[in-house]
Amino acid sequence: MPDWDPAQYERFKDERSRPFFDLLALIEPRALMHCVDLGCGTGELTARLHEHLAAAATTGVDNSPAMLARAAAHARPGLNFEQADIANFTPPRPPDLVFSNAVLHWLGDHESLFARLAGWLSPAGQLAVQMPANNDHASHLVAHELAGREPFRAALGGYARHWPVLAPEQYATLLHRLGFARQSVRLQVYLHVLESADAVVEWVKGTLLTDYEKRLSPELYAEYLRQYRAALRAAIGDARPYAYAFKRVLLWAAR
Ligand SMILES: C[S@@+](CC[C@H](N)C(=O)[O-])C[C@H]1O[C@@H](n2cnc3c(N)ncnc32)[C@H](O)[C@@H]1O
Repeated sequence: MPDWDPAQYERFKDERSRPFFDLLALIEPRALMHCVDLGCGTGELTARLHEHLAAAATTGVDNSPAMLARAAAHARPGLNFEQADIANFTPPRPPDLVFSNAVLHWLGDHESLFARLAGWLSPAGQLAVQMPANNDHASHLVAHELAGREPFRAALGGYARHWPVLAPEQYATLLHRLGFARQSVRLQVYLHVLESADAVVEWVKGTLLTDYEKRLSPELYAEYLRQYRAALRAAIGDARPYAYAFKRVLLWAAR
């Protein structure tokens, strides 16, 4: 089963890091914070978070050995990385910040998930989360539609990626129900000007399509990718450059 590929993910590093810095700007720095970065990936941005907040301790959590192998280079006193699935992870002490950038769309049932994360926080704790909300773009619709077509449907056992990200207003009411007195929830559109429409394939290969890659044989995944490329071109054309409009939810909450 292929793991996340750090090199493929980092091909659009600059574009992908912009929402991280927008999320960082929402956090209220406090002295000596204990932070948790869920789905820390290569750890580079975890280190930026740790430094920006001059945190006492930051733990990056990820379930990908390949990503964590890269993250190890950023470890130092006060900044450590741990292999765990977010679904089973519990921080050893109540964190002052639960942070997660471009990860929680991989986990289901956000009502329960956010209740669990909120339950971890220290009394003055903050929650800061960014997730893609682009499931209605052709890049995502085509991937989904193709998964329902043979021979992929049979090979995937009928699996098609479920999209768990709620509407922004649903997070606002959820955070209120979870007892957060202060919050900021917004939908932001990031315009990524890519070299060509075909570059969208390279973009989603590093994220969304990893879900199909790990479930298909290498031969079938190669065929899936070939058909994806053709169907995407039919849907969005072959403009050069291509303006890839990408919606994301950014949320922050404190009690
Ligand atoms: C799109 S990357 C984001 C990495 C990093 N937060 C960043 O902003 O660059 C998603 C990361 O989430 C991790 N991930 C996905 N599902 C996870 C889970 N259930 N538990 C732990 N990590 C998970 C992946 O291994 C990957 O490193």
